[in-house]
This record gives sequence, structure tokens and C-alpha cells, in this order.
Amino acid sequence: MSSLLVDNIGELVTNGTGEGPLGIRRDAAVLVEEGRVVWVGPSAYAPAADRRLDAGGAAVLPGFVDSHAHLVFAGDRAAEFAARMAGEPYTGGGIRTTVGATRAATDDELRATVRRLRGEALRQGTTTMEIKSGYGLTVADEARSLRIAAESSTETTFLGAHVVPAEYADRPDDYVELVCGPMLAAAAPYAKWVDVFCEQGAFDVDHARAILAAGQAAGLGVRIHANQLGPGPGVQLGVELDAASVDHCTHLSDADVDALAGTAHSDGSGTRTVATLLPGAEFSTRSPYPDARRLLDAGVTVALATDCNPGSSYTSSMAFCVALAVREMRMTPAEAVWAATAGGARALRRDDIGVLAPGARADLVVLDAPSYLHLAYRPGVPLIHQVMRNGVTP
Ligand code: NIG
Ligand code: FE
Repeated sequence: MSSLLVDNIGELVTNGTGEGPLGIRRDAAVLVEEGRVVWVGPSAYAPAADRRLDAGGAAVLPGFVDSHAHLVFAGDRAAEFAARMAGEPYTGGGIRTTVGATRAATDDELRATVRRLRGEALRQGTTTMEIKSGYGLTVADEARSLRIAAESSTETTFLGAHVVPAEYADRPDDYVELVCGPMLAAAAPYAKWVDVFCEQGAFDVDHARAILAAGQAAGLGVRIHANQLGPGPGVQLGVELDAASVDHCTHLSDADVDALAGTAHSDGSGTRTVATLLPGAEFSTRSPYPDARRLLDAGVTVALATDCNPGSSYTSSMAFCVALAVREMRMTPAEAVWAATAGGARALRRDDIGVLAPGARADLVVLDAPSYLHLAYRPGVPLIHQVMRNGVTP
């Protein structure tokens, strides 16, 4: 069994035991065996190992956990982005443009896009990435989207209810029946989660409840796109169905915040349903950012994710989302880095990632910087010096 010691770490973010909310340790080392962390402690007391990775006094943190991304698609909507920047509003209607291109693409074209974006994210420090379907919207296209997604991630999500496709525009009930029946049956073998875009212009609360409940009955965990474009019932539906995460949360009522806060664990470790904020979407649609402070002050567990997709947020950079959350959403750098690592893990109901402690997966990043603070302090700068996933540096 070969062991690897990452040592000479100037600042180690553990999200476990250590200083402050990030569990920081100074002059630290991490011992890795068989893809797992087996020891964390002071560099001076580090056990012997077969190999050594010298962090050069830099900061090391858990790999980013991007819990919300739509990578299985074809085509490009740069012109839509340019039109928005010239004043057009975002309505979500462009999803159908991507559906057309995705249906027309070959498996290999879709696979190449997923791999390209997954690789792009990995090089930027994302060691876990959730991948949704949702641009196929036929039984065969949703199943193949998830089959391809599952080649690159175990965190796969069936989003057959992304939008009602054009051919069902005047009979949405029939489409919901298709999603709950044959489409779910074909998708479920490749999916871990079910998701619905619950929003005006997409799926109403009754349709969303039916689809999520069907997914749950098929053994999938629940997540939901909620309250992105306006206020609505999505967040409270997510809480009702014990969703791991309610995503976007841009327009929240007091009752929504209370409902999320009401899912708090009794041991003070935060909420069972996580609010996942996706500031790349507000950036790229020039919309008001979600009120992260209100959620955090109410005790709600917050995650940050990219929402990487060709329409509303074509970024794979978690560091960019951290910088936006700090600058535009008044999260502290520590809150934002926690949300992008441990928060994402919580949104996926995982305790083996997002943390560097014995037993955790050896997923980490070495920064080209002395502190995690630089992720927000030096926006747009490629600070990810080295990435380790499962104990391996790809
Ligand atoms: O999360 N909100 C729905 N789905 C995506 C947008 C997808 C698109 O515009 O293609 C989102 O923002
Ligand atoms: Fe999304």
C-alpha cells in the first residue's frame, strides 16, 4: 500500500477541527493512503510516507464540490447572452433552443462536451461535480443524457422536467405523465437524484410535486430549482419533500426562510435542506443576487455552485462563484469557501467529501497563494496550482 504525504502546507482548510469555521491548521501535513486521508497534523510530526508532495508553504483546501451543473448539451447561446447584456430579459425560454441542438447531437458529441467541461472544472479545483440531464426531454434523449453523465460523475440528476418541450406546449399534463412514467423508468438506472424547474413558465407546484414524488418512489433523492425568476412555492415544496437542496433561492419570502430554518438538525450542525446559491446565473442574466446573509443569519446551511449551463451561467469556475458571493452577496470569504466545499457536500448529502479529516476522500487543491482569502481577493486569477482527486493528481 503506497502512501503520500502532502506537507509544508502553510494554511490548511480542513472544514473539520482547527481554527474558526474553516477548521484552519497552520504548518500542516496530510497523509493519504488508497485515495483516503488517514492523518492530518503538524508538518513537524508527520509520519513517514513513500512519496511526498511539497505544498511549498501555500494554502491547501478540500476540492470544490459543485453540486449543480447542466453539462449534457449541444450548441451555444452566446448571442442570447449578448442580447441580454444589451437589455433583453432572461425568461428561461432559451432552454428549448438547447433542447433542439441536444436532440440533434450524436452521443459522441455530447460525451465530448461533458468531458471537456468536467476537465475544465477539475483543472479549476472541482473534484466533485453533479451533472443534470434536462436538454433531451424525450425518453431516449433523457436516458442517453444520464448514461453519458454517469460516465463522468456518480452525482447524476434526472431533470426531465426542465421545461415543457414545444411538442407538448398545449398539453403539459401529458408531458408530466410521460416524465413520471416511461421517462423516469428509463432515466432512473443512471440517476441518483430527481430535480424539477418549479417556476412560472416551467412547472407549477402540483406538477413539480407529482414528478418529485415519483422520483422519490423510484429511489431517487430530491433537489429542486426554486424561486429563481420570482417568488413561488418551490422552496417550501422542497422542504415538504425533504429535498437535499433547494437551488437558486433568489426570491424568498419570510415563510420560505422559516421553512428552511425549520429543517435544522438538533445538534446545531445546520439544516437538512441546503439552500444552494448560484451567483453565476445572476451574473450572466444581470439579475439581483440572492440574499445570502438573510439565510445564513437564520441558520440555513448555504452551498455555492456554478449552475454551469449554456444559457444562464456558462462558467465552470467555483472560484469565480466564491468571489461573486463575497463581493456581491456579502458572504465572508470563510463562509463562501465553506459553502463551495463542505456546503456542496451537504447539498449532496455526502460526508466523505468537502472536508479534510481522517476517513475523507483525498480530494484537495493546492493554491498558488498563501491563504484561501486569495480566492476572493484575486478574482479571475488562476490560483489552482495542483489538484488531487481520490489521492491521485490528474
Ligand atoms: O438553472 N433554471 C433552469 N435551468 C437553468 C437554465 C438553463 C438554460 O437557460 O438553459 C438554470 O439557470
Ligand atoms: Fe440549473
